[in-house]
Amino acid sequence: MPEVTVIRRDGIASSLVLDGNESSLMHALRDRGEFGVVGECGGCCVCGTCHVLFAQAELYRLQAPSEEERELTDNLLHSEERSRLACQIEIATIPDGATITIAPEE
Ligand code: FES
Repeated sequence: MPEVTVIRRDGIASSLVLDGNESSLMHALRDRGEFGVVGECGGCCVCGTCHVLFAQAELYRLQAPSEEERELTDNLLHSEERSRLACQIEIATIPDGATITIAPEE
């Protein structure tokens, strides 16, 4: 399972081994509590509270975002080209060694 670095909103980086049994990156981050990921809509791609940023090089190794995800991220206050919704990212698709930054709160 991939081991990633997660950068919290306060800039502190932590290593995290992702468990393949978790249904999405949002669940993995939310369930640990320390990253401030809310996942308010439970993964239905409507709230944006699971907004994360991937490094550009890693972004292209992930499954491409759906139209629905793209529309939502484009409308977030802190939207960037490398924005993704953690609820739409399956653990198995995350490259080992990826760096995931928790986006600022909306
Ligand atoms: S949890 Fe709501 S959009 Fe991801």
